Amino acid sequence: RNMSSASKPKVYVTNYDIPKKGLDLLNKSCDVVQWQSRETITREQLIKNVKGIDALFCILTDKIDGTLLDACGPQLKAVGTMSVGYDHIDMKACKERGIPVGFTPDVLTDATAELTVALLLATSRRLMEGAGAVRSGEWGMWNPQWMCGQGLHHSTVGIFGLGRIGLAVAKRLRPFGISRLLYSGRKENPAAKEVDAEFVSFDTLLRESDFVIAGCALNSETKEIFNEDAFKKMKPTAIFVNSSRGGVVNQKALYDALKSGQIRAAGLDVTTPEPLPTDSPLLDLKNCVVLPHIGSATVEARNAMAELTARNILAALNGEQMPCQIE
Ligand code: DGY
Repeated sequence: RNMSSASKPKVYVTNYDIPKKGLDLLNKSCDVVQWQSRETITREQLIKNVKGIDALFCILTDKIDGTLLDACGPQLKAVGTMSVGYDHIDMKACKERGIPVGFTPDVLTDATAELTVALLLATSRRLMEGAGAVRSGEWGMWNPQWMCGQGLHHSTVGIFGLGRIGLAVAKRLRPFGISRLLYSGRKENPAAKEVDAEFVSFDTLLRESDFVIAGCALNSETKEIFNEDAFKKMKPTAIFVNSSRGGVVNQKALYDALKSGQIRAAGLDVTTPEPLPTDSPLLDLKNCVVLPHIGSATVEARNAMAELTARNILAALNGEQMPCQIE
């Protein structure tokens, strides 16, 4: 190895399938080492491979905690996650060690909001069931009572966590002619005015919404906030949609609520665990649509996420403020 490459900062990339745009940026000025398999890197391998690195490019399946940071060593200058969620990162451990952490807000907001609306419609209008009925031959003559679902028009939509993505979902749902838009969360969002959303308690949100959408981050306050008690408060006709993190839901309670008809249906882009085992009881339910965590899965969003992660890391390596740093 020549002098110039030896003096370049070393960046470890934990995933094999990072869009090239992000890697190209890093490669210009860094010595990039990348996990070389499509199999997810194990914790053990990660701890081994990060020794001596200057920056870590990670994804949401990598657990970043004190042990991992210490395994990198004291020369570590930055962590960048290619995600907007950061529940996989122990922020206290990063702060204690003075490590800035970059994330990717905004660039995936539109993609994730689109998917959330798609999931909501797929669930409420029973798209998977209907498509399944076509294939299975269950489709008979046109029937006035068959495959009826729940429309958005005139409905009350409740968004738990009106942040960037929640707001983008609200903007997309308004044109469907919904009657009321409720939201709840830690604090009021001044931008709620743009979509004429009313700030209400979590309780009111649950009791009055026809559609309950989880758009919150996963943290100690939101962990399994959608539990037995929450599903009990929802209308029997309510439809629950989650495109945030599986951890905000008590999945057993959700299953029971769907099975017993306590709520009408659920659309999930995120589950616990991921991937959801194929023998999960949730998959036996006709009124549950499960997608494989594809909220941000557009080519454009994923490219932008990779680029922003690289830019966050490069900024920190240059001693500058990251474009998007977690506070
Ligand atoms: C995120 O960014 O947190 C999503 O879960 C993946 O895009």
